[in-house]
Amino acid sequence: MKILLGISGGIAAYKTPELVRLLKKAGHQVRVACTRNALELVSRIALETVSGEPVLFETFSPRTHPGVEHIDLAGWPDVVVIAPATANVIAKLAGGLADDFLTTVLLATPAPVWIAPGMNTHMWEHPATLENVRRLTGRGVRVIGPDSGELACGTSGPGRMSEPSVIVRILEEHFTRPRPLAGRRVLITAGATREHLDPVRFISNPSTGRMGVALARAARELGAEVTLVHGHLEVPVPDGVVAVPAVSAMELHRAVFEWKDRADLLIMTAAVGDYMSASPAAEKMKKEALGATLTLQLVRTPDILAELSQPGNAPSGPGNRPGERRPILVGFAAETAGGDESRLLELARQKLSRKGCDALFANDVSLTGAGFAAETNQGVLLFADGCVVWVPQGTKDQVAVSLLESVVASLLR
Ligand SMILES: Cc1cc2nc3c(=O)[nH]c(=O)nc-3n(C[C@H](O)[C@H](O)[C@H](O)COP(=O)(O)O)c2cc1C
Repeated sequence: MKILLGISGGIAAYKTPELVRLLKKAGHQVRVACTRNALELVSRIALETVSGEPVLFETFSPRTHPGVEHIDLAGWPDVVVIAPATANVIAKLAGGLADDFLTTVLLATPAPVWIAPGMNTHMWEHPATLENVRRLTGRGVRVIGPDSGELACGTSGPGRMSEPSVIVRILEEHFTRPRPLAGRRVLITAGATREHLDPVRFISNPSTGRMGVALARAARELGAEVTLVHGHLEVPVPDGVVAVPAVSAMELHRAVFEWKDRADLLIMTAAVGDYMSASPAAEKMKKEALGATLTLQLVRTPDILAELSQPGNAPSGPGNRPGERRPILVGFAAETAGGDESRLLELARQKLSRKGCDALFANDVSLTGAGFAAETNQGVLLFADGCVVWVPQGTKDQVAVSLLESVVASLLR
């Protein structure tokens, strides 16, 4: 693998010659780009000796060859690893700044980016840093560490850069793990639909799209070609995922039916409005004309999952006649079961048989840590053959991986 190691000016920069050595020992090609501050903390000569390559840090260096160095370098790696990632470089990456060689390369690279933060505990726990890290992970940047322990500043706590051997092990495990969705096309819906009453008012719901986006990211990492049909999202679409925006339930319905024949697996996490205005106004409704009360007439929106699983749309697989193919269907259900697992399972059973999908993941949104705006999720994955998999609480990324692994094992062999 071609690895670009980005080094910023954290004290753990002194460990990076060892990181370069271990990466090379594992058979990778390594090049190094760093900030000027990093070179205050680690020797350029040491890095050039272990990497066997010049260390790059100047945007406007004398030309050694025609071309633009930062753009050429940005297109070279399979992965970029920033270790240590300072609070400063994390903030710049989150904000899209490119005021030195390393951050310019980071903005220009299509390669996946990993960061191994290393800093004083207060810097790590500063709301700005945590917010920046959240933004980056939302964009698909992977984070290794930091660990907790003794810090160079004499204190102890979270913020210590993971050891070079740990960084190498995590990268190796990630890039050599099986890709069970390679060659598969996965269609995912996410986010909240908006049913407009007029151009400035709409009915919607609190979905942020985090769960669907986490599934899109996980499916991509498991090797799938992923299309995300999405309503309103509060998180960015991950790199490498085709985004198809849809505002209303009708638009989302249209997009799903347009894309479904190209999918092997369709996962419906979007919070699709059940009702829409019977007669949305083309122009803004004026309060003065409406008076003190406003009565809305709403009509049902189409039930996308139920329509997709209609007879004649048999599951894909050997033995099906042409024209009968449909993707494997996985539905999502947000239920309020008051923390009662047997009730949640019963609600999931009822919905699965009503919708006719192949599997349904139900979560209890009355629990803290399992709902629309939560960072975490948990719930039950129920298959049409009655098989039940309880998914414990985890980040939405962790839950997404568990769900996909179960779906692959049961439905996509
Ligand atoms: C001795 C020393 C050690 C430092 N260690 C860290 C560190 O571990 N993490 C960090 O975020 N900043 C650390 N800093 C502060 C950064 O070097 C400073 O924020 C700098 O602007 C970062 O620049 P860069 O991100 O462009 O490399 C350290 C500064 C000094 C003088």
